[in-house]
Amino acid sequence: MPLMQALSLRHSTREFSTRKIPDQVLGDLLWAAYGVNRANGDRTAPSWRHIIVIDVYAAMEDGLWLYDPTRHALVAHPAGDIRARTGQQDFPARAPLNLVYVAHGQRMSELAPENRKLFCSVDTAFIGQNVYLYCASVGLATVFRGAVDYPMLARAMRLPEEQFVTFAQTVGYPKGS
Ligand SMILES: Cc1cc2nc3c(=O)[nH]c(=O)nc-3n(C[C@H](O)[C@H](O)[C@H](O)COP(=O)(O)O)c2cc1C
Repeated sequence: MPLMQALSLRHSTREFSTRKIPDQVLGDLLWAAYGVNRANGDRTAPSWRHIIVIDVYAAMEDGLWLYDPTRHALVAHPAGDIRARTGQQDFPARAPLNLVYVAHGQRMSELAPENRKLFCSVDTAFIGQNVYLYCASVGLATVFRGAVDYPMLARAMRLPEEQFVTFAQTVGYPKGS
């Protein structure tokens, strides 16, 4: 789909079908989100000084997975089905996929600590818009979310102290489709 058409279709949706996302579509979605698009390892979304601070996790019925962009693979992350804990609204629990964006703020060691959250959020926002545009182009529904119980989600994901969730984003087919 031409970019201009995808932009004209981009919008947030909060009603999802429970229909599973096929593996090929999931792979394309994750690549569009933050895949490697150059030989030097850089990504489809920009990063401050090429320093990759965001991990993309996929919370699905079959568990929690970390996207490894270098291998273009999902790596199991032992936590079970945590979809319901990725957001404070009702739809994340039933939608097939919730992306959770996790920051390694300490990698931005040259930034003052108070700026690290800001820069991590900006990195995440670019990824989120990639997801919106991919979804618009293939008929998937999505919404970027900040209504998250951050301490609870960090515990559910068993994140180490220095990592933190920036945002989450629900993806699925629109209800009734
Ligand atoms: C930083 C940020 C946080 C958001 N958090 C939520 C959220 O927690 N729940 C939700 O339903 N939508 C959330 N949204 C989506 C916005 O509500 C949505 O983008 C806005 O209503 C405009 O609608 P549109 O995306 O269809 O243009 C968030 C959007 C942004 C940019």
